[in-house]
Amino acid sequence: MTLQKIVKTLAVLGALYGVSVAALPAANCCSLLEAVLPVNILSIGTSNYTTVNNDYWSSSAVLSPSCIFSPTSPQEVSQAVKLFTDNQCKFAVRGGGHSSVPGAANTNDGILIVTEGLNEQSLTNENSVWLGAGLTWGEVYGYLGPYHKSVVAGRYYPVGTGLLLGAGLSFFGNEYGLAIDNVKTYEVVLYNGTIIHANSTSHPDLHRALKGGGDNFGVITRYELITLDTPDWIWGGMVYYNQSQLSQVEDVLYDYHVDIAVNDVKTHVLPQFGFNGTTNETLNFSPIFYNGALNSTPAALQPWVDAQPYKNTMRPTQVVDLATEFDAGFGYGLVQVQRTFTVYADKQFFRDVWYQFQVWLQGYKQIPGFYGLHCNMPVTPNAVQQGVLKGGNVLGMEGAGNRTLSILYFGLTFNNLSDTDAVFPAFATFVESMMSLAEQQNVRHPYIMWSYAGHDEKVIEAYGEENNNFLRRVKQDYDPVGTFTNLVSGGFKLPAPGY
Ligand SMILES: Cc1cc2nc3c(=O)[nH]c(=O)nc-3n(C[C@H](O)[C@H](O)[C@H](O)COP(=O)(O)OP(=O)(O)OC[C@H]3O[C@@H](n4cnc5c(N)ncnc54)[C@H](O)[C@@H]3O)c2cc1C
Ligand SMILES: *[C@@H]1O[C@H](CO)[C@@H](O)[C@H](O)[C@H]1NC(C)=O
Ligand SMILES: *[C@@H]1O[C@H](CO)[C@@H](O)[C@H](O)[C@H]1NC(C)=O
Ligand SMILES: *[C@@H]1O[C@H](CO)[C@@H](O)[C@H](O)[C@H]1NC(C)=O
Ligand SMILES: *[C@@H]1O[C@H](CO)[C@@H](O)[C@H](O)[C@H]1NC(C)=O
Ligand SMILES: *[C@@H]1O[C@H](CO)[C@@H](O)[C@H](O)[C@H]1NC(C)=O
Ligand SMILES: *[C@@H]1O[C@H](CO)[C@@H](O)[C@H](O)[C@H]1NC(C)=O
Ligand SMILES: *[C@@H]1O[C@H](CO)[C@@H](O)[C@H](O)[C@H]1NC(C)=O
Ligand SMILES: *[C@@H]1O[C@H](CO)[C@@H](O)[C@H](O)[C@H]1NC(C)=O
Repeated sequence: MTLQKIVKTLAVLGALYGVSVAALPAANCCSLLEAVLPVNILSIGTSNYTTVNNDYWSSSAVLSPSCIFSPTSPQEVSQAVKLFTDNQCKFAVRGGGHSSVPGAANTNDGILIVTEGLNEQSLTNENSVWLGAGLTWGEVYGYLGPYHKSVVAGRYYPVGTGLLLGAGLSFFGNEYGLAIDNVKTYEVVLYNGTIIHANSTSHPDLHRALKGGGDNFGVITRYELITLDTPDWIWGGMVYYNQSQLSQVEDVLYDYHVDIAVNDVKTHVLPQFGFNGTTNETLNFSPIFYNGALNSTPAALQPWVDAQPYKNTMRPTQVVDLATEFDAGFGYGLVQVQRTFTVYADKQFFRDVWYQFQVWLQGYKQIPGFYGLHCNMPVTPNAVQQGVLKGGNVLGMEGAGNRTLSILYFGLTFNNLSDTDAVFPAFATFVESMMSLAEQQNVRHPYIMWSYAGHDEKVIEAYGEENNNFLRRVKQDYDPVGTFTNLVSGGFKLPAPGY
């Protein structure tokens, strides 16, 4: 492509998305950056640009950045962000690329910063580890395993550190809480290029704001996570159930929410129901885990065996091997759409929602590659309390008291981006109707988990007014010019007062 053609294409895209400043400024920004940091730029049209730009879990997240910037140090990020603020250059930041929200971690009219060159891993002497923002959880577990250590983080190998800004459900969550609550320090590049450490003693307000505040405050270059000691091996695998067993699985997953996960905090289960539109078959396949060096299924997890899985891979193993096993089947390159909301664990409501989702899914199974996924993921009272003990976050879950919350996940997969319009509005309407049902039945909790939300869900608003006011105060102190609202404009943004 000639430069003229690129500019023309971008202008057309700009008009499509209603962006008046499009085209030339973005191209100019790439030139400005290239003048300062030439080796780190991938130009549009090169094969490296294409490879890196296609590296997203959902094909809907692949956009057309004007160029890609791949820094290898916090100082390079600092130089770039200052330059972007000074010149009003739009940009986006990508960690592991697993957000399915188009524009959250990519851009059509700006520069994409990819973080894979920020890959430091270094244990400290204080039960913590520094991790570069470009690492995946599989890499981290692989690094920590030989030291008999682990971190409270994502469960699937290729998922990235963006999870440490939203919430973070983990193998270790029932005991230690959400991933965000186990971030000791965020190393942050502010709008003006200043690099600061936000932790419990240095910029503690920013530390708390980042625990749920996402990309509204800065670019994170490194995270210091609390480590936990793990035994020589742990016990875990995947249990698979046929249609005939699903009713029993529903009973067990409710007991898991209110009893097992509460009373044996070393357990973890992620109950997943999947509907394959091609075969019209529904299965359950659930990652299952116990943080102990066992050689057989512990009593706490026995109900999952009693529910008669047709396949059960539980064995003595390592966390990194589970992260690999669980990710198989969640491959790249398809369209992924997600939505979520939260309820107090309720057996009948769980059943009603899953039944109605199955009925809804039947109506779309002719779409090529159609697949539906539903999960109930507990956040126990102890998990919430861990967050309080570790300094607090902005999610607004404290009021749940002694009741286990459940994050309800709804996901759709299909082959072709052109089918999105046929599915998306109906999907949103369906999930909203389930939210209304939850309200009618008095089981709804307002929280919307960042990591699983649809692009139009009101994630930050759901944290409540007090947390929103707090976030706005912190925003005034750390991003007074609004770089991380106006220039980094994708994803979930802190709303203006009085939303
Ligand atoms: C297969 C699969 C498994 C998953 N498993 C889990 C799980 O076990 N637990 C869980 O809680 N969630 C899980 N998730 C959800 C996951 O937490 C979110 O998708 C999360 O956004 C992924 O982070 P990422 O870095 O890969 O994503 P990205 O898409 O790269 O980033 C997500 C958001 O974070 C921002 N961001 C990323 N890095 C930075 C940075 N350095 N500075 C500033 N902003 C940044 C991006 O701009 C974007 O808005 C899973 C998702 C998938 C698809
Ligand atoms: C492109 O990628 C190849 C293979 O990863 C690498 O060797 C090369 O240096 C890259 N080129 C640029 C310009 O980044
Ligand atoms: C917070 O960060 C500062 C600056 O790096 C450091 O001096 C301090 O020890 C850290 N505090 C904690 C509790 O880690
Ligand atoms: C369960 O389903 C699997 C995969 O479809 C099949 O191979 C197996 O025979 C079924 N088992 C039972 C007990 O129904
Ligand atoms: C759905 O079933 C088809 C046909 O057996 C298979 O090719 C496809 O991989 C399945 N999809 C998923 C996501 O399991
Ligand atoms: C698909 O499965 C549903 C639910 O089990 C059933 O009612 C329906 O008849 C099936 N449709 C086809 C085309 O097999
Ligand atoms: C939970 O709290 C309610 C009200 O505070 C109390 O009545 C109930 O007994 C508690 N339940 C448990 C299991 O602690
Ligand atoms: C996607 O849909 C478009 C428009 O309906 C069609 O032309 C194209 O062949 C489809 N591609 C695939 C891979 O199914
Ligand atoms: C950068 O911004 C922060 C937060 O507003 C401020 O404290 C700091 O002094 C600024 N740094 C410079 C070099 O202006």
